[in-house]
Amino acid sequence: MDSTITNEITVDVHLPPGGPLSGMAADVRAGLTKPFKELSPRYFYDERGSELFEAITELPEYYPTRAERAILERQAAGICASAGSPTTLIELGSGSASKTRVLLDAMDKAGCLEAYAPVDISEQITRDTAEAVAAEYGITVHGLVCDFERDLERIPLAGPRVIAFLGGTIGNFEPAQRASFLARVANLLGPEDHFLLGTDLVKSREVLEAAYNDSAGVTAAFNKNVLSVLNRELGADFDVDAFEHVAFWDDENLWVDIRLRSLARQLIEIPSLGIRVAFGRGEEMRTEISTKFARDGLAGIYAEAGLEIVDWWTDPEGLFALSLTRRADQA
Ligand code: TRP
Repeated sequence: MDSTITNEITVDVHLPPGGPLSGMAADVRAGLTKPFKELSPRYFYDERGSELFEAITELPEYYPTRAERAILERQAAGICASAGSPTTLIELGSGSASKTRVLLDAMDKAGCLEAYAPVDISEQITRDTAEAVAAEYGITVHGLVCDFERDLERIPLAGPRVIAFLGGTIGNFEPAQRASFLARVANLLGPEDHFLLGTDLVKSREVLEAAYNDSAGVTAAFNKNVLSVLNRELGADFDVDAFEHVAFWDDENLWVDIRLRSLARQLIEIPSLGIRVAFGRGEEMRTEISTKFARDGLAGIYAEAGLEIVDWWTDPEGLFALSLTRRADQA
């Protein structure tokens, strides 16, 4: 390694006291005491949940991860050029940054890459990613451990920057939450900055429903695992086998609606919240929505947030899209 390369690693941690799960009790209580019960998707990803999600991304039916990777692999150089050869890549929900390396490689090749900022809720993963990327690319890495829905404005590093939010996770936001998130991202963008967003696209019911109801049952296990998380973290007494996985395409809302259905009448005790929750036989509780987009609809959503599309790429089969935007008032 060239010892004259000075790469700096900084990791700022802005988690509330109590860590990533600190708001969990109040949040779960609010969701389970509504007439139509719901749980936030943020509790899926304990160790087992993360492993199961990894397995989902490798299922034959679950195309989004592969489709997004295919776009990045084919278009990374074009993305870098359309974004004005940015010096800095900021990645929201960076995780282990496996797809990111495709973008970093393209920026490196174009000679513009100076810095990377992974932003994630998991401190350990962010530290590991920061160290690995700094070593591999010899660049400055400024990691930020936070809930980016809360601490978006703390994002470090000067530009020109590209802020990337990959994986289609924007589809898991409710419409109002999505609108305010995009408006806040728009506010962070300077005249030379861009926002790169991964979105899954509307397609046939068959393909969409298969992606969330795989034949091996991995998705069902992943969905039901959230109940084990509540049992462990909150002392709840959910019988995981007394619920079944449900996922269906809602063609009015343009989302896959993901739920857990109670197979019996049952009463769940959650002592740490001081509540009991009654489920009727067949009652469904929402655990996630996964919104799918079309280019026109997305352009409208961007416009409301003050963003405009600069470029748009899909995979050869047209399953998934990456779109590059900038602030509409700074064009
Ligand atoms: N965010 C992923 C998606 O919307 C997560 C996911 C895949 C998921 N399969 C799931 C979430 C099943 C809940 C249940 O595609």
